[in-house]
Amino acid sequence: MSTKQIGIIVGSLRRNSFCRAVANALTSLAPENLSLRFIEIGDLPMFNQDFDDDGNTPESWTRFRNEIKELDGFIFITPEYNRSIPAVIKNAIDIGSRPYGSNAWDGKAGGIISVSPGSLGGFGANHHLRQPMVFLNVLMLQQPEAYISNVAESLNEKGELTAERTLGHLKDYLEAFSQWVNQVSAS
Ligand code: FNR
Repeated sequence: MSTKQIGIIVGSLRRNSFCRAVANALTSLAPENLSLRFIEIGDLPMFNQDFDDDGNTPESWTRFRNEIKELDGFIFITPEYNRSIPAVIKNAIDIGSRPYGSNAWDGKAGGIISVSPGSLGGFGANHHLRQPMVFLNVLMLQQPEAYISNVAESLNEKGELTAERTLGHLKDYLEAFSQWVNQVSAS
């Protein structure tokens, strides 16, 4: 089975982000056929169509769009902001979707892991993120779903995700995602 290139997109820019801790843990849990790499979104200027229309596309937008196009799939690790997704994620989605007719996300495999220090596991963000993915023709893994609730309890004093149970869930998720990306790539 060929190695699949998977982008990890973290929806928090916070220094001690729980989402980043979950994303860091993923890199050591991936099955052999998945090559995971971080796709950074914190340097993307807010979407404004004028940049493209005026031939003044920010270099970071071009870098980001090219990175997405090269991938077989991607996994969003997102917090929930006010029962929805953070602006940085929506901004990245919109930038990747344009210019019109050049949707970098098209036809790729997608996954979502939502993370919260609260008990609902970012359910609202998890499902809001699925809505633009339908429109952008991203083939989302349906099951298993991944909601990491009470995340602080899974971290050690250095902020690393060490709870065996959570690591086990993430490993299972990546196994399922690996099968899914193979299926999507073959279709
Ligand atoms: C939050 N937080 C939050 N948590 C949640 O479970 N549901 C929510 O709707 C919200 N809403 C929300 C709005 C805003 C503007 C902020 C800043 C925060 C709390 C959030 O889960 C918490 O700050 C996490 O620590 C954010 O993830 P990172 O930065 O640790 O990855």
